[in-house]
Amino acid sequence: TTGPTREYLDPVRYISNDSSGKQGYEIAVALNKLGVKTTLITGPTNLIINADIKIKKVVSAKEMFNEVKKTLPVDIAICAAAVADFKPIKKNKNKIKKNQNSFTSINFEENSDIVEFLGKNNKNRPSIVVGFSAETENLHKNAIIKLREKNCDIIVSNDVSKKDSGINSDYNRVSIIDGNGNFKVFKRSKKSFIANKIAKVVLDKLLIDDRNFN
Ligand code: PMT
Repeated sequence: TTGPTREYLDPVRYISNDSSGKQGYEIAVALNKLGVKTTLITGPTNLIINADIKIKKVVSAKEMFNEVKKTLPVDIAICAAAVADFKPIKKNKNKIKKNQNSFTSINFEENSDIVEFLGKNNKNRPSIVVGFSAETENLHKNAIIKLREKNCDIIVSNDVSKKDSGINSDYNRVSIIDGNGNFKVFKRSKKSFIANKIAKVVLDKLLIDDRNFN
């Protein structure tokens, strides 16, 4: 998955974030180059898709979740999307008026957690589930908590507090962390470079896990 999701309040207004979809797209490109049949489920972005990848476009977290479910079974799931954790309970049918007295607060409900659904899915669990962790503080600690809570095999932690990398940048700074707490740290690099590293770690893990030890 990649990109943001949009959670609409009325036909023209929504809650979202600045994710460009680049990091997830570059991972799909890297896997595709290595011969992995890849589907990219993407929220609304301005990405120009050059690679020969199957694309499924969605808008809301709910739509993204449904597309993910439809795409199963898969061997590898990599969830780089910046999915909205919450959505407004009510979407107004018409554009909310400025003088609409009742509109003083928004009530939210939680969206389903897609990567957690994948990680804990007994029937159709992908062999490798990779989550991302976007944080502005306690990067490693919070990433490891997410890895455990969502039952991921790998989590990619990135610092989204910096202007020169992370969300909506061509660059990223990440740590790739596995279930044993081992981590590889990558200093500020192009997202395409980081994508190649993530693809390699994931495929190595898939091949090692698949090996038949006698
Ligand atoms: O898109 P770019 O501009 O290239 O930026 C890339 C990125 C910074 C957005 C990306 O590298 C990244 O960190 N993506 C995850 C952003 C995020 O939502 O992080 P989180 O820590 O809030 O979520 C943890 C994990 O749960 C993520 O894998 C997320 O996809 C997943 N999640 C979250 C909520 C939800 N309802 N469903 C989910 O699957």
